[in-house]
Amino acid sequence: MPRKKATAADAAATVTAKATKTSSETKPKATRSRKKDPEVRVLFASSEVAPFAASGGLADVAGSLPVYLNRSNCDVRVILPLYGSVSKAWRDKMRFVTYCYVSLSWRSAYCGIFELKDRGVTYYFIDNEQYFMRDSLYGEYDDGERFAFFSKAVIEALCRIDFEPDIIHCNDWQTAMIPVYLRDYRWVGKLAAVKTLFTIHNIQFQGQYDPYILGDIFGLPESDLPLMTWDGCLNLMKAAIELSDKVNTVSPTYAGEILDPWYSFGLDPLLKGLQFKLCGILNGIDFDTWNPETDPAIAANYSADDQEGKLACKKDVLSEFGLDDDGRPLAVMIARLTEQKGVDLLAPIMDEVIKNGIQVAILGTGDSKYEQIFSEMSARYPGSCSARIAYNTALSKRMYAGADIFLMPSKTEPCGLAQMQAMRYGTVPIVRKTGGLSDSVRDCGDGQGWGFTFQNYEPWDLYGAMIRAKDLYYDWDAWKEVRTRAMRCDTSWSRSAESYKYLYLDIKNTV
Ligand code: GLC
Repeated sequence: MPRKKATAADAAATVTAKATKTSSETKPKATRSRKKDPEVRVLFASSEVAPFAASGGLADVAGSLPVYLNRSNCDVRVILPLYGSVSKAWRDKMRFVTYCYVSLSWRSAYCGIFELKDRGVTYYFIDNEQYFMRDSLYGEYDDGERFAFFSKAVIEALCRIDFEPDIIHCNDWQTAMIPVYLRDYRWVGKLAAVKTLFTIHNIQFQGQYDPYILGDIFGLPESDLPLMTWDGCLNLMKAAIELSDKVNTVSPTYAGEILDPWYSFGLDPLLKGLQFKLCGILNGIDFDTWNPETDPAIAANYSADDQEGKLACKKDVLSEFGLDDDGRPLAVMIARLTEQKGVDLLAPIMDEVIKNGIQVAILGTGDSKYEQIFSEMSARYPGSCSARIAYNTALSKRMYAGADIFLMPSKTEPCGLAQMQAMRYGTVPIVRKTGGLSDSVRDCGDGQGWGFTFQNYEPWDLYGAMIRAKDLYYDWDAWKEVRTRAMRCDTSWSRSAESYKYLYLDIKNTV
């Protein structure tokens, strides 16, 4: 529904733009300012944003979606914590705006506000050294307090900066307290009617805490217990889902999946009752930065029309991983080595995979159990299997470029960006049909797809898909066709950013 409405709005916008152009000949000044008026103003709140601070896909989304939206006549500004890890080079470009104190129960915490402009986006940084000058973004004993502070600081900052958004777009549990605290700020003129959108990037992490911190840490009254509680503990995501005007997930399939207990981590009864405000929009990737034609990080550049350079990229990866260069298909996995990513499907079939002539290179860190299994595999199959237990973005890019096959057999995958990055670099994905993997990869069995998919979360189903891929690889012309289709697939933000714009307009105009 938002799509329909927005298409109409979009058409209207085109008409206005045309009319504006004609009248610009007579009234240049007035027209110029009208033309610049954004269709919607949004404050995008995120606990991580690339390239400033990143630990996962959320940072990529927060770092690229606003860039694309602003190219499409929106005014989206981004707000994030000023972590200790934000580089000096970025800090040097920031401007100090102002400061204030944020009250959280009996605490009064300093909140500095800095501003930075980059790639057409204004970023606001919330400074508090006690909360954010830490070694890691998350996993601290006081994460609940840190992000409750951040959420309230976002609203306090909004009271002080020169920006009046129609919508605050919150992302994941770290910003889930924004709609909760916002209830107490409705008396502030510019916050009286501001709407909220809550995006679930991963429902596994909900921000769950002991009820005893409701008053002492979050500074909320007992009467908020029913709103804040789910399954016996405080649940920040639950409160945001309940209070936000709209809720979305990062792919249409995942929006349906989280209504099922297998995927919902306990929230399905809540979501079922609120389905009317739930939708899914598939993430995109930044085609400017993910481009094999121009990427300086890979061994040779290439494109869908001229794929010759890909061979040099494969040789580069084989030699980096100490794998034999003998023409076998090379499958790579780049992931957090956790159950969610389906690594426990790969481990039991590894022996057969290698015996069947598929080389495997793995890059990632995670559960020590898997780190050990894959390190042992490397030792057992020199030249055929190699694991690098590390988080290395430069090496991962070379692998996207150099591999033939990309493995992503996730147990659950809200969206997944890696499969899209692999496709863009001509590496054919093998994915389990779940979440965004299902929405972005079409099986080539129908003669039109660009990957291999399997349904059941079973090792031998993954194995079957890998064997199908290997067989096709030796039918070189057919393989090249599939690879070309993967490279030509439009997974850029330009399409998905339009869907967000429609959703924003829908919230602004009708909710
Ligand atoms: C989370 C999800 C991942 C998604 C990303 C960005 O990390 O696990 O599937 O792509 O968020 O939305």
